[in-house]
This record gives sequence, C-alpha cells and structure tokens, in this order.
Amino acid sequence: MTALDSARPLVLVGAGKMGGALLSGWLTEGLDPAGIVVLDPKPAAEMVALAGEKGFRLEVAAPAGLTAAVLVVAVKPQVAGAVLPTLAPLVGPATVTLSIIAGTTVAALRRGLGDAGAIVRAMPNTPAQVGRGMTVCVGDARLVAAQRDTVTALLAAVGQVAWVDDEGLIDQVTAVSGSGPAYVFLLVETLAEAGRRAGLPAGLALTLARATVEGAGELLHRSPLDAATLRQNVTSPGGTTAAALAVLMGEDGWQGQVDRAVAAATRRSRELGA
Ligand SMILES: NC(=O)c1ccc[n+]([C@@H]2O[C@H](COP(=O)([O-])OP(=O)(O)OC[C@H]3O[C@@H](n4cnc5c(N)ncnc54)[C@H](OP(=O)(O)O)[C@@H]3O)[C@@H](O)[C@H]2O)c1
Repeated sequence: MTALDSARPLVLVGAGKMGGALLSGWLTEGLDPAGIVVLDPKPAAEMVALAGEKGFRLEVAAPAGLTAAVLVVAVKPQVAGAVLPTLAPLVGPATVTLSIIAGTTVAALRRGLGDAGAIVRAMPNTPAQVGRGMTVCVGDARLVAAQRDTVTALLAAVGQVAWVDDEGLIDQVTAVSGSGPAYVFLLVETLAEAGRRAGLPAGLALTLARATVEGAGELLHRSPLDAATLRQNVTSPGGTTAAALAVLMGEDGWQGQVDRAVAAATRRSRELGA
C-alpha cells in the first residue's frame, strides 16, 4: 500500500455517512492518523472531537501547497460539479483519486479535477457503515498496480471489494449491490405484512421477519455453502418451504420481478449519469 504521511496524505473530502464510515474503518484498521486529512466546510461537533481524539488533520478548505497521495471524494452528487475544481490543487501526477460519488463518471471526474493523476470510480453500499459493504471499482488507464492495491486496501476496511474493467457495468452494479440493501429491507417489510395478513399480531410478524432476514444473512455470511445449497438444505420435499418456494419460484415469481427492478434501476442510473 502507498505510504501515507503528513507530507503526502490521504485526503478525505466529505465525511458524511459514507465518508465517515470509511474514516472509521481506516482508523480501526490502524491507518496512521498523521497521514489523514479530512476536508469539511462545516464539520460536525463529533468530527471535531474525533479529530482531536485521534490526531488527524481537519480542514474547512483544501490547504495550499498540499498534494494528496490518495484523494477520496465522498460528497453528494449535487455538489460534485462545484467541489471537484476546488480539489484540483491537491492532485499531482502520483495522486490517485477515489470517487464514490454516484453517477459521476471517470470523464466527469477528469474534467473537474484536471489532467493530473489516476482516477478510480467506485460504487459502495450502505452496509459499509457496519464494515460489511460491497464496493465495485473501475480505474482509468493511468492507474498503476500499487495504486489499485492501495484503493483495494482502503475500501476493504469497510467490506468486500471487486473491480470491473468496463465502466458501463457500474450502472448494473448500482442496480444490484448499490440499491440492493433497500430490496432486502423491503423483503422484511413484505414478509412481515404477509405474516400479519395471515393472522399474526403485527408486532410479532415484524419481529419474525426481521430476525429471519438478519439470521439468514448471517448464516450466508458464515457458511461456506452457496445460497442455492442453503435454500435446498431447508427445503424438504413436499414440506412447507417447498410449498412456498413453488409460488416464489413459479411462473410469476420473484425472478421476473427482480429482473424488472434491476432493469429499472440500471436505466435510472444511466439517466442520472448522462
Ligand atoms: N449512502 C449510500 O448508500 C451510497 C452508496 C453509494 C454511493 N454513495 C455516494 O457517496 C457519496 C456520499 O453519500 P453520503 O450518503 O455519505 O452523503 P452525506 O452523508 O450527505 O455526506 C456528504 C458529506 O459531504 C460534506 N460536504 C458537502 N460539501 C462539501 C465540500 N465542499 N467539501 C467537503 N465536504 C463537503 C457534507 O457536509 P454537509 O452535511 O455539511 O453538507 C456531508 O458531510 C454520494 O456521492 C453518494 O452518491 C452513497
């Protein structure tokens, strides 16, 4: 991993939900706070306190004369156009910029940041907040192996990391893992409502649905078996699970609906990125 120090630091721009999760992952993983600079025009009291406690540098604007080894941009897409040009002075030929801004393409990042350095566009998801995220990255032609390793290590602090070569796939990635946690939360709501309609008290139905999704997710996480095998393992021929799965896996079952949902999210991601 690239050496980070106060002269060639990691600069994090935007310490909100996602940037804050990354920062906390890096600190937990033992990244030296002396090599971290956080930029935030209006830092929350907790961020000021954390900077004081951990010893990283907190700035309200890009400090003059500083070149980042790694520039991590985690601001909202709505402010990206205005913020990126203000970060250009932090970027040198050896800088790698990691952007998690949804919908902002490598070309748009290049336009905003200027011609220097390498660029990685990444799509994380919200379980990063509990260290169980899934992030997919695409790098531009200037990215060298050491920078790719550094980006992988930084993102691995909040979960799993994968790379694609084709930036066009980021729209499908957004539709599957970026938006995916919301589909799982909806599954809890839908299962609870079905339980309520089947006669369970609403509160109990919600508890059962939530615990079931949490438990099944944890089992999937800890087990070496794939999802299909875990499903088959709880499905006795002619039993209750088989009866339900015949509906969910039938002609108008989940696959068609999820296909349409992922296609809709992919289309929307393309529209927002255009
Ligand atoms: N949350 C997700 O699931 C998810 C998934 C994939 C990608 N992303 C992407 O991650 C990015 C961040 O999302 P988020 O949910 O973490 O948003 P967020 O909580 O609103 O965080 C953005 C942070 O940037 C700060 N900020 C605004 N202007 C700034 C500036 N000029 N310089 C430095 N910091 C500035 C904001 O401060 P103020 O609050 O004071 O404005 C806020 O703390 C977005 O681009 C989003 O598309 C998020």
